[in-house]
Amino acid sequence: MSDLEALKKEAALRAVALVESGMRVGLGTGSTAKYAIEELGRKLSSGELSGIVGVATSEASDALARQVGIPVEPLDPRPLDIAIDGADEIAPNLDLIKGLGGALLREKLTEVQARRFVVIADHTKLVERIGEKSALPIEIARFGFLSTIERLREVLPAGRLRQNGAQPYVTDNGNYIFDAQIPAGQDSDALERTLKGTLGVVDTGLFLGMAERAFVAAPDGVTELT
Ligand code: 5RP
Repeated sequence: MSDLEALKKEAALRAVALVESGMRVGLGTGSTAKYAIEELGRKLSSGELSGIVGVATSEASDALARQVGIPVEPLDPRPLDIAIDGADEIAPNLDLIKGLGGALLREKLTEVQARRFVVIADHTKLVERIGEKSALPIEIARFGFLSTIERLREVLPAGRLRQNGAQPYVTDNGNYIFDAQIPAGQDSDALERTLKGTLGVVDTGLFLGMAERAFVAAPDGVTELT
C-alpha cells in the first residue's frame, strides 16, 4: 500500500470508530470511502458491530458494501445516523467540492439526510479556497446538454464535458458531468444558487455547510477539523 493509501485508510478508520451498533450509515464513494466500507464490513463480521444498515451513494459502493457483508437499503425519508465520505477539496470552514468520482448527486441526497456527515481525506485535499485545485463537477441532464453547457459557460466559462474514452461519462443516474473551473474570488453560496437555478443542471459538487467534521490524515498524524 502506498503512503497516500495508508493515510486515506487511517482517516477512514477514525470515522468508522464513530459508528455504533444499530446505526443507519451513509456509505460514500471513492478510494477513501472504500476503506471505510471495508472497515465497517470487517467490524460486522468480527462482531464488533451489529445491526448496521448502509445506504450507498453509488452502484460501486453498493456492490462493495454487499460484498463485505453490509446490508444495504435504498435511501428513504428517515434520517441517517452518520454518513462517511471522501472529498476532492476541503476548505477551512469544511465547505467541500465533491464528485470527481461522479457520485455527487447520490452523495448529496444521502449526506444531507445524515445527522452527522463526516469527511475523510488525506492532506492533499485541503485548500484555502474552494476551486483552488479541483474543477467543480456539475451533473447535467443528457437531454439538451449542449444548450445547458452554453448556459453554464455564461457563469463558468472554463470547463469541459467529462469524457469516458471517446464517449461522454454517464453517471449512475444516466446524466452527464460538466467539470468547470471556479474563478478566484467567486462566492460559493452565490455560485451554488446560480447553478441550481440554471436550466438543465441536476446538481453540483458544492457541498456547503454540510460536513460536521473531517478527519484529514497527513504523515505526522490525523487532524480532526470541525
Ligand atoms: C465521488 C466523490 C469522492 O468522495 C471524491 O471524489 C474523493 O474521492 P477519493 O477518496 O477517491 O479521492 O466525491 O463522487
